[in-house]
Amino acid sequence: MSRKICLTGIKPSGTPHIGNYFGAIKPSIELAEHYDSRYFIADYHALNTIKDSALLKELTHKLAATWLACGLDPETMMFYRQSDVPETFELTTILMAFTSKGLMNRAHAYKASVQENTLTGNDPDAGINMGLFTYPVLMAADILLFNTNIVPVGKDQKQHVEISADIAQSLNHIYGKELLTVPKPVISETTQVIVGLDGRKMSKSYDNVIPLFLPSKKLRKIITKIVTNSQEIEEPKDPDSSHVFSLYKLFATPEEQTAARERYLAGDMGWGHAKQELFEIIDAHFAPMREKYDLLMEDPAHIDSILKEGAEKARTIAAATVQRLRNAVGID
Ligand code: TRP
Repeated sequence: MSRKICLTGIKPSGTPHIGNYFGAIKPSIELAEHYDSRYFIADYHALNTIKDSALLKELTHKLAATWLACGLDPETMMFYRQSDVPETFELTTILMAFTSKGLMNRAHAYKASVQENTLTGNDPDAGINMGLFTYPVLMAADILLFNTNIVPVGKDQKQHVEISADIAQSLNHIYGKELLTVPKPVISETTQVIVGLDGRKMSKSYDNVIPLFLPSKKLRKIITKIVTNSQEIEEPKDPDSSHVFSLYKLFATPEEQTAARERYLAGDMGWGHAKQELFEIIDAHFAPMREKYDLLMEDPAHIDSILKEGAEKARTIAAATVQRLRNAVGID
């Protein structure tokens, strides 16, 4: 029996950090083992917000190298750049004719931008380009090209996948046949919140992240910035209210956690020491991945060739979908 198809897009929008690793990268790579999987870099989605060519290129390479270093296997799954699959853009054009403007008006991400503009007294459409407005149609093309059954995404993208399903159903209904597979979102975010340097959720927008694959020296430095209270070394400390301990738990075995917990409670752990132990465990955990990442980043042409090979495999499927739709609508 053939396996179900799982697809997701990753937008190159910033340097990947530990929150991304535990929240998305690791669970998505584990999920990929159970499906016929297609993961891609959504560079044309990023273009809507990034207008610096060198930056877009760099973020694309960094993101691809990160996923490869974290264990994504391009031999057993398809890994490609959206822009290397031009069928995506023909399908987008076809889907546009079946997508009501009202459906786009109701998309949360777009609505949030309009609301923000209204609150700040700006024109409702200030800063919103057509790429952002039609974002869900391009995303629907990404998904529907590949007969996708499930789409692992963060909560914020759930509605976009539902919109893709609506568009697919609309076409199937109009032509009276199962032209497109109707996809389902799967929420991939772990319920566990990864805390950042200041104790809030680790997020680029709070400027509190620990980037993945920092060189050891920089990693140590950033860890010293984790906010703690001002308790002295010998004072008993509450591990459960400590951001240092909360991060430590992500990496430590249950035995290591118990041992550290006891030392916090016994007043045998100063903050400097706790941070040093956290640094060591993170550094050791990511060392093999960082080595792979650094090697890949030294050779961006090699990254490109991995992505191109993935795109070749992807285009065979994509071309068949576009042909099927062209035939169905009468443009063949
Ligand atoms: N919009 C997604 C994000 O911002 C990225 C994305 C683009 C995507 N195309 C996709 C996700 C298709 C899932 C399926 O994270």
